[in-house]
Amino acid sequence: MVDYKKIGLVNTRKMFAKAVDGGYAIPAFNFNNMEQMQAIIQASVETKSPVILQVSKGARDYANQTLLRYMAEGAVEYAKELGCAHPEIVLHLDHGDSFETCKSCIDMGFSSVMIDGSSLPYDENVAVTRKVVEYAHQFDVTVEGELGVLAGVEDEVSAAESHYTKPEEVIDFVTKTGVDSLAISIGTSHGAYKFTPEQCTVDPKTGRLVPPPLAFDVLEAIEKKLPGFPIVLHGSSSVPQDEVDIINSNGGSLKAAVGIPEEQLRKAAKSAVCKINIDSDSRLAMTAAIRKHLAEHPDHFDPRQYLKPARESMKKMYIHKIVNVLGSNDKIEN
Ligand code: G3H
Ligand code: 13P
Ligand code: ZN
Repeated sequence: MVDYKKIGLVNTRKMFAKAVDGGYAIPAFNFNNMEQMQAIIQASVETKSPVILQVSKGARDYANQTLLRYMAEGAVEYAKELGCAHPEIVLHLDHGDSFETCKSCIDMGFSSVMIDGSSLPYDENVAVTRKVVEYAHQFDVTVEGELGVLAGVEDEVSAAESHYTKPEEVIDFVTKTGVDSLAISIGTSHGAYKFTPEQCTVDPKTGRLVPPPLAFDVLEAIEKKLPGFPIVLHGSSSVPQDEVDIINSNGGSLKAAVGIPEEQLRKAAKSAVCKINIDSDSRLAMTAAIRKHLAEHPDHFDPRQYLKPARESMKKMYIHKIVNVLGSNDKIEN
């Protein structure tokens, strides 16, 4: 049993309370490799932002859960070396699919876990979430639950159809489970193709697809039921069209990729939404930089030559999210 506090990690409790009070959101960035982790930590240190490093099933399959957990331990030391005396870094399991997965992460030093029972019947979601909370809270590990289903055409966590969270269920769910935060469905979804072209309108000036707005009425109804309770938004990448263009003009083929407009995320971050999950934008930044670099330097074959600009590009994107979208900068005192 590893005590996450001994390796310098923190849970989400204080972080979320401050974010809800302060009208900003904590970035939850997925990481799968060293370059992503370095870019996330550099961005969070330079902006003095707390940060959530999150590990998905895909990441565990790709990189190995043990290795990622030791990378997070290394991330704390790396942040200190970069000049942050008291880093606020959470190591979070993203979309935990069972009690056993959550337990194994808690036992190995994760400071926060998500149990995603959103695809289960309501009573089963309550039961498994409560079981995870009972185990996690013994070790002061915080737990995120989910109510409502996010649609998405990519990733193992996607569903064919979205179902918005029902505001009439949230009090019962939070009370029965004891979760520390609640992920909700208000129209976001995973991956780089969040909406079909049929769901969008076309901006006559740019010819770009404009997605339908998020269901802020549902968010407001949930906030009324649970005043001040930490709310989480998954599927919150914006799918920057300049990155999509770089990919497509350097041999890629991403058609009709569309994300959540940043002004809507800015609005959400000012509400009780205190954790915003971003993965796809990092994938796009990395892929665009690598494709561009290799197209311009066909003779390069040392991975460091193209991973360096990829890391720089991800870092720029993370800083932009922290400062211009979530507002979590300047929240850590050194
Ligand atoms: O929640 C979804 C994340 O983007 C992770 O996806 O399981 O492919 O790593 P992944
Ligand atoms: P995106 O695919 O929009 O980046 O969402 C990531 C996410 O929700 C991880 O849990
Ligand atoms: Zn997610």
